[in-house]
Amino acid sequence: MLILVILLISWKSLDADLLNDFNQEFRVTYDRARTQILSMTGPIIICHGDNAVIIHRGQRFEEQVIPQLYHDLKSISHIPLKIFLTLTLVRGNLSADQFIELKDYLHSIRVIRNSLHFPADVQQKQYDLIDLSIGYLRMVLRTKFVDEAQLGRFCQDAQRHFSVNIDLAARIQLDLLHSKIKPWYQTRFNETERQSLKVLIMGQKTVRRNHLEKVYFYGLLGERHEGKHIIYAEGTDDEHEALQVLGTWLLDKRASTNFFGDHRRLHRDLLSDAANTYITQLLNS
Ligand SMILES: *[C@@H]1O[C@H](CO)[C@@H](O)[C@H](O)[C@H]1NC(C)=O
Ligand SMILES: *[C@@H]1O[C@H](CO)[C@@H](O)[C@H](O)[C@H]1NC(C)=O
Repeated sequence: MLILVILLISWKSLDADLLNDFNQEFRVTYDRARTQILSMTGPIIICHGDNAVIIHRGQRFEEQVIPQLYHDLKSISHIPLKIFLTLTLVRGNLSADQFIELKDYLHSIRVIRNSLHFPADVQQKQYDLIDLSIGYLRMVLRTKFVDEAQLGRFCQDAQRHFSVNIDLAARIQLDLLHSKIKPWYQTRFNETERQSLKVLIMGQKTVRRNHLEKVYFYGLLGERHEGKHIIYAEGTDDEHEALQVLGTWLLDKRASTNFFGDHRRLHRDLLSDAANTYITQLLNS
């Protein structure tokens, strides 16, 4: 068995460049088919940053779905996080540089505090969070010392304050998203289009699970998984690249159904079934 594997590993089928060039024809055909399948797909809703792009009957529309207030709340909530990130690796005495950095930051926070323009009920919550941060920073600057337990308590107090912001941020974002998507989904798309709709979410890896817009579309379309109508393109900021992900997904699904009689087979590593069996053998020998 081992001899056979060694023999196969060092095998040369034919000139490597020749075969590589030959395979290029496959790639060209694949790319062309992907472009074609994308042009036949619609409507598509692409969630990208603050906006949703809607591609419908050959036209492109763009709607803002994340409100500015969301970003503003996030900036305020980042204050305690910035303090934590500066201090968590210090432990003990502050260096002169750290002292100056924090002193400047304290000044910036005070400037921001004096220029806030949130809705009245939201404003007080921001003051509470800011004042907590100012109080803690002043104490650290006075003692020039970072106590781990005190930093921990500050983080917990801050968390109680910004959880209000998180709650609010989720609501305002969903309200705006729903107000923009609902007319498209319920009125402008016809029944056939509602069935064929693809939602392409461009997001980061860390928020793939329970991504807010994804969860909204799960609810709207009555789905529980990615794949049928909802596709997540991870870690790209480029709409064209994200559309390629969607195109690949759709094309592989079609090929998978035809070759394997299972539309999901090409959505995992083609080698995975064979690999699982062989890994068990390999590690137990
Ligand atoms: C921290 O500062 C205090 C007071 O300035 C000093 O007595 C102590 O030795 C310093 N500790 C370290 C580890 O530098
Ligand atoms: C729905 O819209 C598509 C165009 O996207 C059109 O081809 C189709 O005929 C429409 N279906 C109905 C039932 O109106």
